[in-house]
Order: sequence, then C-alpha cells, then structure tokens
Amino acid sequence: MTDIALARAIHVLAVVVWIGGVAMVTTVILPLLRREGAPAARLALFAAVERRFIWQARIATLLVAASGFYLVQRLGLWDRFRLAEFWWMHAMVCLWLIFTLLLFVGEPLILHRWLHRRAMQASDATFALLHRLHWVLLALSLLTILAAVMGSTL
Ligand code: HEM
Repeated sequence: MTDIALARAIHVLAVVVWIGGVAMVTTVILPLLRREGAPAARLALFAAVERRFIWQARIATLLVAASGFYLVQRLGLWDRFRLAEFWWMHAMVCLWLIFTLLLFVGEPLILHRWLHRRAMQASDATFALLHRLHWVLLALSLLTILAAVMGSTL
C-alpha cells in the first residue's frame, strides 16, 4: 500500500464517521427530540448526545485536514486552488473551516452557554433553529462529498 492510498483511506474514513454522525443527528435525533420531551429533558438528552459525538467529530476533522493537506502537498495540487473548475477543492476546505470553527471555538466559547440559556426560555423555537442549521450543514456536506468523488482523480 502506498502512502497516497493510506492518506486517501484515512481521509474518506474520517469523512464517513464525521458526516455520518451529522446525518444521524439531523435526520434521526433532532426530529425525535423536537417531537417529544419537556424542555429540560430535551436539552439534557441533546447535551448527552453532543458530549459523546463532539470528540469523535473533533478527531475526525483533524484527520480529514491532515490527510487532505498531505494529499495536496504529496500530489502537488496547490495550483487547483487557483482554478474555478476545482471549486470542490475550495468547498472541502471551506466546509472543514466552518466545522472546525464551530467545534473548537464556537461550541466551547459561545454556543454551549447560548443553547442552554435559550433552550430553557424558548425550547421549540431553539430546537427548530438548531434543526435548520443542521440541515444546512448536512446539505453542504453531501454536495461537497458528491462533487469531490466525481472530481477526484486518484
Ligand atoms: C482541509 C480540508 C480538506 C483538504 C485539504 C482536502 C483535500 C483532498 C484531496 C487532495 C483529495 C484528493 C483529490 C483528488 O483525488 O483529485 C480529496 C478527496 C476527497 N475529499 Fe477532501 N479535503 C478536505 C476536506 C474534506 C471534507 C470536509 C470532505 C467532506 C465533507 C472531503 C471529502 C472528500 C472526498 C469524498 C474525496 C474523494 C475521495 C475519493 O474519491 O477517493 N474532504 N480531498
């Protein structure tokens, strides 16, 4: 097995764990939480799911970036970032940046406290907003994966 094949395998595996988890939260867990549960129980369940998943997502984002930039450097793909036809390369990096900021900066510094305060005051509206945001991130992720697999030359 070459280093390129290994980096590609790590890249795809980490994407599967990370975006698979986002899909599960968006299409299964949030709809269930929104349908039932008192505000406090709903928030406690969401926090428990988040506590377990956030470290998986953090480690996966680090592996995706390390393997992704390794492939860019190893295959000499930096020029792609100057060409519009490789928009999906930009999409991968932008998506990674959005999730990295959310997971490493937004969540511990702002979102955690904001969610706990707002979910106790207006539970339905807060979980509806959370659900919409998850759909946006999931849709962007699926589009990026589709374009990356179709555009990949490995
Ligand atoms: C720092 C961010 C990232 C970098 C530098 C990066 C880099 C790369 C590179 C160089 C390739 C190989 C391209 C080729 O074969 O021509 C690739 C493939 C791929 N990437 Fe990324 N990527 C990043 C983030 C992401 C994210 C966030 C996703 C998913 C949401 C993703 C999904 C994929 C997929 C599905 C492939 C195709 C694999 C295959 O068909 O073999 N990447 N990436």
